[in-house]
Amino acid sequence: MKNLEELIKSADTLKTLEEARIEIFGKKGILAAEFVKMKSVPNEEKKAFAQNLNIQKTKLTELFEQRKETLEESALEALMQKSAIDVTLFNGVNESGALHPVMETMNKIIDYFVSMNFSIQEGPMVEDDFHNFEALNLPKHHPARDMQDTFYMNDGTVLRTHTSPVQIRTMMQSKPPIRMISPGTVFRRDFDLTHTPMFHQVEGLVVDDADKVSFAHLKFILEDFLHYMFGDVEVRFRPSFFPFTEPSTEVDISCIFCKGSGCRVCSKTGWLEVLGSGMVDPNVFKAVGYENVSGYAFGLGVERFAMLLHEIPDLRSLFEGDMRLLEQFR
Ligand code: DAH
Repeated sequence: MKNLEELIKSADTLKTLEEARIEIFGKKGILAAEFVKMKSVPNEEKKAFAQNLNIQKTKLTELFEQRKETLEESALEALMQKSAIDVTLFNGVNESGALHPVMETMNKIIDYFVSMNFSIQEGPMVEDDFHNFEALNLPKHHPARDMQDTFYMNDGTVLRTHTSPVQIRTMMQSKPPIRMISPGTVFRRDFDLTHTPMFHQVEGLVVDDADKVSFAHLKFILEDFLHYMFGDVEVRFRPSFFPFTEPSTEVDISCIFCKGSGCRVCSKTGWLEVLGSGMVDPNVFKAVGYENVSGYAFGLGVERFAMLLHEIPDLRSLFEGDMRLLEQFR
């Protein structure tokens, strides 16, 4: 039986081991042939013969199992070597991330106002009716509420439709003088080329003694800000309406694409509307309990600025995570 052990030990692949198995343990194998020999063994030797044979068989089986395990392990090892990926290998790609154009634009806007000594205030995205509407001179059933397609929640709260409620929160939490901006996310039920259900605004508010804040201050800050953002453009203040300001104005810049001569982006008007503003309405001051003060406020959409600065035609593309767009902002 010595040479049978050799046969197993010398098998160096799973294939030759399988051949050895058939040769030794198979139906017509060597062990089977040994058992057949039992017939011709004298009766008194049969027991010892069979015992011996069974011991040998057990030994060989153990040896076979061990060998099989060893060969299987090395086969697996070889497979892993062959298909191994060297994760430390340099793949030639060396890409860095970048700020999303909306955040980049937001930061630029914030930088300006911080440099002008405005503080940054934040408020909740889920707002109550009082802060989002009522205190901003938008009583229930006021037709101007239709200007904003609101997401209403079951408990009567809303997803804030603008960052203006932070004005109210700031005025109620502190005392004048106030000089703040509030950058943040806002929500409206709207989805097309220039609207997404979630977008960003920056709200601004300045409040001080009645003789200290005038429309001239508003005009100066916004003109200076728009020159900082868009360079050498003309700035125009156009009479408008907002419930929370009186008088109200919408602010336009001369079209940065056609320089005012009229093109597709400015709808041939030569002007681009970029923000809303005005002198804080007395009803707003009443709602927060302020007296003998004056103030101006403004609000702008960050996406609109980013689209103009980067000539992005479809607002929705800003939120699709398409690398072909985002890669251009590295
Ligand atoms: N809240 C306005 C909006 O979402 C923007 C706005 C306009 C804010 C005029 C103001 C303002 O503070 O004075 O459309």
